[in-house]
Amino acid sequence: MAIGSFLAELVSFRDAAAAALGGIADEAALEQARIEFLGARSGRLKSIQKLLAGLAPADRPAGGRHFNEAKAAVTALFSGVQERLAAGAAAPVAAGIDVTLPGEAVRFGHIHPITQTIRRVQEIMARLGFESVDGPEVEDQWHNFEALAIPAEHPARDPLDNFYLAVARGADPLLLRSQTSTVQIRVMESRRPPLRIVSLGRVYRPDTADATHYPMFHQVEGLLIEPGTTMAHLKSVLRQLAASFLGGDVHVRFRPSFFPFTEPSVEFDMEWGGRWIEMGGAGMVDPAVLSAVGYDPERVSGFAFGLGVERIAARRYGVADIRDFYRNDVRFLRQF
Ligand code: DAH
Repeated sequence: MAIGSFLAELVSFRDAAAAALGGIADEAALEQARIEFLGARSGRLKSIQKLLAGLAPADRPAGGRHFNEAKAAVTALFSGVQERLAAGAAAPVAAGIDVTLPGEAVRFGHIHPITQTIRRVQEIMARLGFESVDGPEVEDQWHNFEALAIPAEHPARDPLDNFYLAVARGADPLLLRSQTSTVQIRVMESRRPPLRIVSLGRVYRPDTADATHYPMFHQVEGLLIEPGTTMAHLKSVLRQLAASFLGGDVHVRFRPSFFPFTEPSVEFDMEWGGRWIEMGGAGMVDPAVLSAVGYDPERVSGFAFGLGVERIAARRYGVADIRDFYRNDVRFLRQF
């Protein structure tokens, strides 16, 4: 037999085996195919092996090499199919799973809209160079009032307007902080200017819950202390924050106001559905506050602001009642 015909036999053997194996779906069919192609007694490979003896002696080494290659290739194809069948069969049996049943969808949770808002504001402020810092929720009177130029007789310190804690007789009063302006004081006491910080956290006031009030809510506090700071810088930062958080078309307004710890002071409003909604307060840090933390008001100046996180979240998401943020109704929360 000519070597060419012998090699042609090997090629058609490999093609036929590959074609037969492709469609095999169970062990019984695989065994059938194994007997047909690789069977030791009357398999097709066996009959090709017999042809080897009919080759010219000079062609036999090459013929034998090609024969062994074809045998190895087809054997590997069989092993591959065997593994495929074993994997398909073993898994469901081992785990007791019926793979023919429809799957069960995994339900992902997500971040609460207030936390999303906090993180977004932190990102925006970070781009303007403001570092995020935290302060304690249980505060003393110095940080919540005194250092912010809110004297003892000021109505904001009324026990009915604050959550004072029970402390030992004679101990300094403590309260759940009523504003995040406390963090301004804590940061200025521990660092020197220049400063750009933002602090987002919870505050507490004994307000009756309604669509715009809740006894616990969140504020964004910002503080910038740098030489040459003016109201123009304050307005740009707040306008930038509003535009980045709500989109470029938001209208903002600054109204003259009063806070003990800023001079001059403004209230910051955003337009919503043809009406102005107050978002918080701001102003140039009062010299009395700078003195209280040991800064020289003749040499440093800066601005501060405090906004309601629920307010800006409600404005962004079109939520009419801030109590919805705290009802834990997943039908509401799932929307954000
Ligand atoms: N702490 C004030 C409040 O809770 C808001 C505020 C006003 C914060 C003016 C500031 C500020 O930093 O400069 O009503």
